[in-house]
Amino acid sequence: MMYPPEPFKIKSVETIKMTTKEERAQVLKEAGYNTFLIPSKKVYIDLLTDSGTSAMSDHQWASMMIGDEAYGGSENWYHLRDAVQEVYGFEYVVPTHQGRGAENLLSQIMIKHGDYIPGNMYFTTTRTHIELNGGKFVDVIIDEAHQPEIELPFKGNVDLKKYQNLIDEVGANRIPYICVGVTVNMAGGQPVSMENLRKVKEISEKNGIKVMFDATRCVENAYFIKEREPGYGDKSIAEILKEMMSYADGCTMSGKKDCLVNIGGFLALRDQDLYEKATSLVVVYEGMPTYGGMAGRDMEAMATGIYESLDFHYIEHRIKQVRYLGDKLDEAGIPIIKPVGGHAVFLDAKRFLPHLSQDELPAQALSAEIYLDSGVRSMERGIVSAGRDEKGRNRYPKLETVRLTIPRRVYTYSHMDVVADSVISLFDKRNSIKGLEFVYEPPVLRFFTARFKPI
Ligand code: F0G
Repeated sequence: MMYPPEPFKIKSVETIKMTTKEERAQVLKEAGYNTFLIPSKKVYIDLLTDSGTSAMSDHQWASMMIGDEAYGGSENWYHLRDAVQEVYGFEYVVPTHQGRGAENLLSQIMIKHGDYIPGNMYFTTTRTHIELNGGKFVDVIIDEAHQPEIELPFKGNVDLKKYQNLIDEVGANRIPYICVGVTVNMAGGQPVSMENLRKVKEISEKNGIKVMFDATRCVENAYFIKEREPGYGDKSIAEILKEMMSYADGCTMSGKKDCLVNIGGFLALRDQDLYEKATSLVVVYEGMPTYGGMAGRDMEAMATGIYESLDFHYIEHRIKQVRYLGDKLDEAGIPIIKPVGGHAVFLDAKRFLPHLSQDELPAQALSAEIYLDSGVRSMERGIVSAGRDEKGRNRYPKLETVRLTIPRRVYTYSHMDVVADSVISLFDKRNSIKGLEFVYEPPVLRFFTARFKPI
């Protein structure tokens, strides 16, 4: 396997400091063993998320200097709108402060109480907005996506049979749209094939159901299609992306990932009626339809980032840097979700810590231990993230993982080596790792602010 060198050089640096193990033990205790609650200055290598953590390019920083900070009709808004129309091909664009702002608008304008929203595995904020609007999320991803060790090129695909069964069971009139994540974050950053997207569109159109993409990591998905799907090897990322989007009626976007910015998002639509409904809500929750919670300079940086993300060398390096870390861990026998996806390497905490039951929160415990060992910050994606169902019972996801999420253009291969060494050394003493229990549990999206203590 060839791992391409960084297709950029470093113009500005941020110093990071190493802490002592004693210091980290204290920090961890104060943070209630929740890595979200650790002050970032106490982190050595921050793999909590790839969201809003990208390094912007010199061109994006230059874009920030031409911010038109007008309440109405900012020049930067027109640039952003034009970029979305040109690159993704949607006519109507509603700006929002980040992805969940767009999810809020979409859920409010489309979901009625008692509706069903199928999707290829849940995402935390997406499902919460669906439920807050009286909808029920139904997982229609292929079964293999829930099994960490099965290797498939497109493990994020919608199971068309499951989707059709849901339509037959509840009736198409109870399904306003299907939400398709490209890629699928909670499955390990797994992509969806073009063929699958085409078929989802076909079934949906036949039944009068709209197709809404969660386009948050759509450029990564386009790269995987180019790499793996017959007939796409010679197509550009831009061409693939355009075709992917042609199978959607709209999308929500967290600009904080593939648009290469620190803040921003949008809802994009083809339908004028839906667009008008969304604009009447955006003024309530986000701001004028020409800024949606973003500063002018942020919109300009996002417009520039959208074009930069199409560069093949950029996206190839991004995907293969993640794969480099995954391959190193795999070669050392560490259980990870396979194949390695687009934005992160997911450790399989069930197999890493088989002596802990899921109620002992193995992924949360492992994430805390990694921080203690090396100052590397990761994130739990297991039972804590899955939350409780409508009856208040814990959900028990099949995947109990720790996510090592790689920010875009931020860290080098040497940083990946440090991370791998830490995880491998912990694996050697895994039997000594103890479970955790809740001492504080918030009612929604509990993983962000929950606190724990060792059992
Ligand atoms: N959809 C997906 C697939 C996401 O990964 C995220 C955010 C969102 C929607 C919400 O977007 O954060 O801009 O409001 N994911 C981050 C993560 C938080 O760490 O995976 P947002």
